[in-house]
Amino acid sequence: MSTENQPATPAEESPGESPSSEPTPAPETDRSPGAWGQFVGNLRNSPRLFRDSVIRHGRPTSDRAASQAVFGNFFLHILPTRIHFRSLKFRTTLGLGVITLVLFFLLTATGIALMVYYKPTTDQAYDSMKDIQYLVPTGRYMRNIHRWSAHGMVACVLLHMARAFYVGAYKPPRELNWVIGMLLFVLTLALSFTGYLLPWDQLAFWAVTIGSEIAQSPRELTDVLGITSWFDPGGAIKHLLLGSNHVGQEALSRFYLLHVMVLPLIMTVLLAVHFWRIRKDGGLAASSRESQVSRESSVQSPESGLPQASLDSSKTYGLMAVVRGRTPAVDRVMADTVPTYPHALFPIAALSMVTLAVVLLLGHHYDAPLTEMANPAVPENPAKAPWYFLGLQELVSYSALMGGVVIPTIVVIGLMFVPYLDREREDVGVWFGNRQGRRVCVATAIFATWCVIALLAFTINVGWLRDWYPRIPQIVITFVNPGTVLLAVFVAWSLGTLKRTNSTRMGALATFTCFLVAFVILTYFATVHRGPNWQFYWSQADWPVH
Ligand code: HEM
Repeated sequence: MSTENQPATPAEESPGESPSSEPTPAPETDRSPGAWGQFVGNLRNSPRLFRDSVIRHGRPTSDRAASQAVFGNFFLHILPTRIHFRSLKFRTTLGLGVITLVLFFLLTATGIALMVYYKPTTDQAYDSMKDIQYLVPTGRYMRNIHRWSAHGMVACVLLHMARAFYVGAYKPPRELNWVIGMLLFVLTLALSFTGYLLPWDQLAFWAVTIGSEIAQSPRELTDVLGITSWFDPGGAIKHLLLGSNHVGQEALSRFYLLHVMVLPLIMTVLLAVHFWRIRKDGGLAASSRESQVSRESSVQSPESGLPQASLDSSKTYGLMAVVRGRTPAVDRVMADTVPTYPHALFPIAALSMVTLAVVLLLGHHYDAPLTEMANPAVPENPAKAPWYFLGLQELVSYSALMGGVVIPTIVVIGLMFVPYLDREREDVGVWFGNRQGRRVCVATAIFATWCVIALLAFTINVGWLRDWYPRIPQIVITFVNPGTVLLAVFVAWSLGTLKRTNSTRMGALATFTCFLVAFVILTYFATVHRGPNWQFYWSQADWPVH
């Protein structure tokens, strides 16, 4: 990391530009303007003086000034002053991290605007939503932008996670950042879920009621064991979430506080750590092959003109070389890097503007839904969760405990552990690792698609245990249902892949692909093909009229 933070020397400034922040003082003459003249002059110059106080260097035309532009800026200094060519290629990141961040900023800005008008009480919440929709100037637009940004953020976080996984960016030294990413993923879902209740309409009320029933589902087990009266984790979680036994004012107050304060604060802190770790882990994941080429090219062509970093592999940059040990950036030479300003900053700015434009257009064309006011006496049928939870809701329809608690917990904790189970260092930074990885992903995608569709078709056409044995104890269905069968099949497939290929990376690719395929198909299926009483329908047009 460059640490040059001294001001540029005049020789380095381009001609014709103001070299420093201070305006050149006018020579003292007899005709010195006096206080009034100075005041008028300062007033006239104030835009330039303000700009000079913010941007303390001239236009960054030299490499050094460009580095200072990044290094000396509070917001930008999270970026390195130079960046590898490879990190700039669109296919390396697909821009997903940046898009997610922009959406988070948008959510924060529009959320603050909505907070001014929103009233978090069960009597007033719905009316205040109507006010925002119909009375507050640009209120509807703000709400639409907030809603579409939230959906977009969930989608982009998922895709960003998938891209980090498929390039192996979870491997050492990035394990911790992967775990922090998983926490960000859970936080994003929690933020979205808590926001879902706030409009206090039928959709919100019944989705959260179902959510709280799922939270209570460990009772499926404790009831069977006959211990619920003294050990009731399900009831405790539900009570913690709602503050009572049903969705009411206590739940609304809790969700509001979590949504506008607690979760965004935790998210902001974790994001700062996420970005800081990217720097400390030596930038974005790159393959050892590329680093090698980069190293060799710098040795062979020192005349490239670019500053050369040390090739002494015993050198450490940790704690300014005070301690022994090596950091990931050691041995990474500066050949193949370019100044972050403008090579990375301009594309980031362009991507941010495109993201903003897309969300503004969506907000302009599509209104966020608002159904009737919440009515605990009139259940919604079907009451569907937001789209990203619909896959889980499908599994919950077989067993609330397995689908709503156990399987998601296994998936999240399992994904967090992947970096500690797969330690192979080869082909990091390369999509799917190598040709074998691509083959494993394609085979797994086909296999997982077949499994999920076959199982769904089977349960719809033939039924499941309860249809064949109506008196079967619930505990059996809790452990043997389509969700647990899928989980077992996927675990077996992933372990089989690991053994067959003799590679933990291949096993990890198979696991993640199973998870992704199941998520996509179950989400699609529950969105399109589930209707009243969670029955199968080919389309919504076939739903019974009532
Ligand atoms: C709130 C959401 C998040 C934001 C705003 C965010 C932002 C970013 C950004 C801007 C980068 C730099 C490169 C890029 O664009 O890919 C990055 C890298 C990374 N992110 Fe995230 N991220 C988020 C969530 C996640 C999640 C859910 C995971 C995984 C579980 C994750 C794992 C990683 C990893 C491992 C890297 C390093 C990638 C590499 O070295 O190639 N992030 N993130």
